[in-house]
Amino acid sequence: MNVIQLKVSSFRNLVNLELNLKRGVTVFYGLNGQGKTNLVESIFVLSKTHSFRTFHHKELIQYDKTKSTITAKVHKNSGTHSYQIDLTNQGKICYINKNKVLKISEYLGNIKAISFIPEDVFIFKESPHNRRWLLDSELASLFPLYMKQLIVFQKIMEQRNALLKQINAKQKELLDVIDNKLIEVSYELYSKRCWLIEQLNELLPIIFKKMSGEDNQVSIVYKTYLNQKDKETYLKQAKEILETNLNKDIEKTFTQVGIHKDDFEIYLNQKNISLYASQGQQRLMALSIKLALVELIKKETNEEPILILDDVFSELDTKKRKALLNYILDKEQVFVTCTHYQEVIQEDINQPIEIIKIQQGKVVERGVIYNGRKQS
Ligand SMILES: Nc1ncnc2c1ncn2[C@@H]1O[C@H](COP(=O)(O)OP(=O)(O)O)[C@@H](O)[C@H]1O
Ligand SMILES: [Mg+2]
Repeated sequence: MNVIQLKVSSFRNLVNLELNLKRGVTVFYGLNGQGKTNLVESIFVLSKTHSFRTFHHKELIQYDKTKSTITAKVHKNSGTHSYQIDLTNQGKICYINKNKVLKISEYLGNIKAISFIPEDVFIFKESPHNRRWLLDSELASLFPLYMKQLIVFQKIMEQRNALLKQINAKQKELLDVIDNKLIEVSYELYSKRCWLIEQLNELLPIIFKKMSGEDNQVSIVYKTYLNQKDKETYLKQAKEILETNLNKDIEKTFTQVGIHKDDFEIYLNQKNISLYASQGQQRLMALSIKLALVELIKKETNEEPILILDDVFSELDTKKRKALLNYILDKEQVFVTCTHYQEVIQEDINQPIEIIKIQQGKVVERGVIYNGRKQS
């Protein structure tokens, strides 16, 4: 899919921006603090309804304003559609073809986008919560039911934890009901996460090899409290685990074991990447995961997500910049930000690359680089 037109108003330092966009690679360049990341962030927000920098949507609204609007015309297999999100102090409202969407779950997944930002390098060092969210947010855009199930899980977990605080013999029956519901929905989430990890295990080694230019062994391991694909056995064993842990749970007034603690680990040549790999290798792996997600979503939905690469090229060595540029050249639509477009386009490329200069939240120059030459 690709965005053909973007309109942004009162979004961070973008006062009023209107832009026609092309397929292929577009490079937004300019000095620091000019609004390049804000621009690609607005596309991401329109896709996911939240930012890759913050979950507080009020931060996105321009200082002194009460409402921000992002609108885009997006070309998809099913035709051209318009999407809009209004961000206000009260909340977010989404529209598809000018019709208000009542449930976010019906909106998510309409515009598919994958982003890579410099902070993503820390994904292997951060808390498991962020790695879970990486899996969950993609599963939510692939399976509309997934987000609902995740919310159900969280609600049941809250009920369980509340009950643990004041449990007596009479309430054991209620706990039993809650536990059954909890493990039923746990299984649904577990099996989807399993599936995603399996898919990544196929794609990631191939992409990492392309990016690194080296033939390393790469594997991704799902860390969960109960790895059991057979549903009946899963439910039975999960119940036993909850029963075994009950006294500890009551003591801590918190459910100690469950899929809310899920995590994954990446092994590079049999070594845990978070412990043994260099920052450069971790960056390349985090980037490769995002690129693998692009391939996976394309395979599953027949629509290629829009790829957003914020400030990535400057962090890579010459060889890897070349590998990344070559990789993205045959993608449907890629938005890249950088200070100088020469960081990205280092040599003659026989494919046009759009370059757009951003200054103080505005487009001040546009052109195309083709065969190493700049054309206006
Ligand atoms: N809510 C906001 N309202 C107005 N300006 C904002 C808001 N949030 C951030 N900014 C401004 O956006 C600018 C940073 O833009 P950014 O896109 O991150 O820059 P860069 O071009 O380096 O990627 C800063 O000048 C900052 O003050
Ligand atoms: Mg930036």
